[in-house]
Amino acid sequence: AQDYRKEAYRPQIHFSPKSGWMNDPNGMVYHKGVYHMFYQFYPDSTVWGPMHWGHATSRDLVRWQHQPIALYPDSLGYIFSGSAVVDAANTSGLGKEGKAPLVAIYTYHDTAGEKKGRKDFQTQGIAYSNDDGKTWTKYSGNPVLRNPGIVDFRDPKVMWYAPDKKWVMTLATKDRITFYSSPNLKDWTRESEFGATIGAHGGVWECPDLFQLEQGGKKHWVLLVNLNPGGPNGGSATQYFIGDFDGTAFTPADTATRWLDYGPDEYAGITYANTGDRKVFIGWMSNWLYGQQVPTEKWRSALTIPRDLSLAAAGGKLYVASKPSKELATLAKPATTLNQLKAGNASFVKTFSLPARLELQTEQLQDFQLVFSNDAGEELIVGYDKTANQYFVDRSKSGKVDFNKDFAGRHTAPRFATAKNTDLTLVIDHASLELFADKGLSVMTEIFFPSSSYNKVVLKGSTGFQQVRYWPLTSAL
Ligand code: FRU
Repeated sequence: AQDYRKEAYRPQIHFSPKSGWMNDPNGMVYHKGVYHMFYQFYPDSTVWGPMHWGHATSRDLVRWQHQPIALYPDSLGYIFSGSAVVDAANTSGLGKEGKAPLVAIYTYHDTAGEKKGRKDFQTQGIAYSNDDGKTWTKYSGNPVLRNPGIVDFRDPKVMWYAPDKKWVMTLATKDRITFYSSPNLKDWTRESEFGATIGAHGGVWECPDLFQLEQGGKKHWVLLVNLNPGGPNGGSATQYFIGDFDGTAFTPADTATRWLDYGPDEYAGITYANTGDRKVFIGWMSNWLYGQQVPTEKWRSALTIPRDLSLAAAGGKLYVASKPSKELATLAKPATTLNQLKAGNASFVKTFSLPARLELQTEQLQDFQLVFSNDAGEELIVGYDKTANQYFVDRSKSGKVDFNKDFAGRHTAPRFATAKNTDLTLVIDHASLELFADKGLSVMTEIFFPSSSYNKVVLKGSTGFQQVRYWPLTSAL
């Protein structure tokens, strides 16, 4: 059999399943030095089907070990998205000999109920592990949260709310978020709802997250809400709100709609539990518009690189900025540094190979295009359009694009930073690009499928870069 690591389009620095279908990251929890990654998984096909929780572990968020499937569908339904927590005080009583268990909180999707035309076919269940996440037992009292009759009732993200010594569940309920609370992860009380009249509503609200970030000595609450469809460049995307949470209700500081990532290929992203003040975000690197049709053969889709989230101000407004997590640097081979790269300086890296990281700094941001290409002349263009004040990625001629009519195209992200100077970080794998501009204020994630990997990069346009650094990256597989 062929080595899976050498398959066409196989990500080298991103997590992907060896075979089968994957969508959302689930149950991300840090525990005893190990980052657990569960994910929506259908092992028997490369399209979506009966959902399991696949499992992988890592000590550095970059090199992942595949683990046996953690949760299988059962008589209550498929295992949809959800979260996991360390129940430090054993509030659930599910810990062995009073020790702290890991508890997963997920959605049951009962297809039989759905077929009968019932509205309450999505409920919430829990499972626990007393061997540090290796094996999981479903709680005998499932479901722990029944459905009041809302067809879309899913993706519980649970956190410990210390001031009230209780668990808070952030749940996506069709076109809004409903907050629940519990003393023990088993008995849940409805607290409040948010969002019916605010934010983007081009589709269903899914996979939310609620956490705190500090800025200038003040803590703010951030509510992530994934939306499908209705994203800024079509299909699936992550919007967010900044405001206050008092243990019962979320109040946004303003009514603006903000997007964490403007590219078409970051979805269902949420953050790790149990990482203290550090918030590490990972998303599914695809889009429901075409995710089931992308031309990979044995598996479908990958996850984004881990990103650290922080708050940053621009033009008098607060935003959530995303930056590649520092662990990614452990994959870097020695860098090539170029000073004073003049505008229009065409080819600037002699031997360019993927995966790679590029960092560019300019004192004077003008139009530019970075063109990545291969020997077949397929190209991916990343750039900035000064008149529109937008970053963009154009994948119209990036390789195979005809598997879905919505795939080819040019996508844009507004620039929020107002300074003349800027910095850009690009993380590029064989089939994906992640752009972090202005210290992560404008972010775009894009996937692509060239007939051979890009092996050339040229600079066009009128921006000169005072410093460019290029790191080839070693494979994490
Ligand atoms: C988001 C989503 C979730 C759901 C899961 C099912 O991509 O639709 O809302 O739990 O995928 O696989």
